Amino acid sequence: MTLSWQVEDLTQADADAGLQLSTEAGWNQVARDWSYLLKAGQGFGVRAEGRLIASSLALPYPPYFGWVSMVLVTQSYRRQGLATLLLQAAVDHLLTLRLVPMLDATPEGREVYSRMGFVDVGMIDRWHGQGDGMVAGPPLVASLAQCAPLDLQAFGAARLHLLDELKRRPGSAVLASDSGYGIARRGRHSTQIGPVVAMTPTVANGLAAQLVQVTAGAIVADVPRSAENLVRWLSGRAFTVKRRFYRMALGRANGFGDGSLVHVIAGPELG
Ligand SMILES: CC(C)(COP(=O)(O)OP(=O)(O)OC[C@H]1O[C@@H](n2cnc3c(N)ncnc32)[C@H](O)[C@@H]1OP(=O)(O)O)[C@@H](O)C(=O)NCCC(=O)NCCS
Repeated sequence: MTLSWQVEDLTQADADAGLQLSTEAGWNQVARDWSYLLKAGQGFGVRAEGRLIASSLALPYPPYFGWVSMVLVTQSYRRQGLATLLLQAAVDHLLTLRLVPMLDATPEGREVYSRMGFVDVGMIDRWHGQGDGMVAGPPLVASLAQCAPLDLQAFGAARLHLLDELKRRPGSAVLASDSGYGIARRGRHSTQIGPVVAMTPTVANGLAAQLVQVTAGAIVADVPRSAENLVRWLSGRAFTVKRRFYRMALGRANGFGDGSLVHVIAGPELG
């Protein structure tokens, strides 16, 4: 292991370099994701040869927990301890804020996180499929404020700023009622459906069906295994699972919020 790496705080100026790392890994984030994450959270990075070679990010969701995300190491610098170093920086940042570190891990990432004491608290499958591309889009709701109480109960932290950010993006589709809401946003290779938060599985399936209807092209949706009704619906629509994520927590054996209300998560980088 090389001990001389210098961990730096990342700023907005690093958004493009961060995007290069996530694109190299085949991830779906666009420039606006990095801009949002670096504004709402604290990014960490290591540079070599005049470029960013590794990253991590701590996204606080006060008052109880925060998300660790964007743990990325460029191919030629892997297995030298960089992910471990940057994970530690993000974890320390959240612990200083007295927040429980949480994350959604890829299988490779899980190898790194388990060694630091993170434990599995849930499983999420990434479903891939195609939208129907119907021309008439759903009405864009003026505000997601009406969904804030339900979302707080479901997620375990207030995140209206994030939902508003996803809603404001060009091309986003948003559906909301008193019993649930769903958002679809454009990604680098696919439209990402999520979050879908709803009081009942029937409402959730209805929201997902409408979002699939108005989306053209490739779709991904990260669905907790517990959302069995939606899983059945997606299977029936010829969606397939290509990746999985392990939801993990540090110093705690379960997640936050009420998972029975979360039918699609926002994304592994967001919780
Ligand atoms: C996962 C990733 C971040 C690991 O970065 P890294 O700098 O190589 O990780 P580290 O060197 O800190 O690894 C520490 C330990 O974790 C384990 N580990 C790391 N990568 C592993 C892999 N691909 N398979 C199995 N174990 C792995 C090993 O025990 C390793 O120790 P060792 O090298 O002494 O055997 C990197 O492979 C990557 O960017 N992958 C693509 C993006 C991704 O999946 N990120 C994780 C998001 S949750």
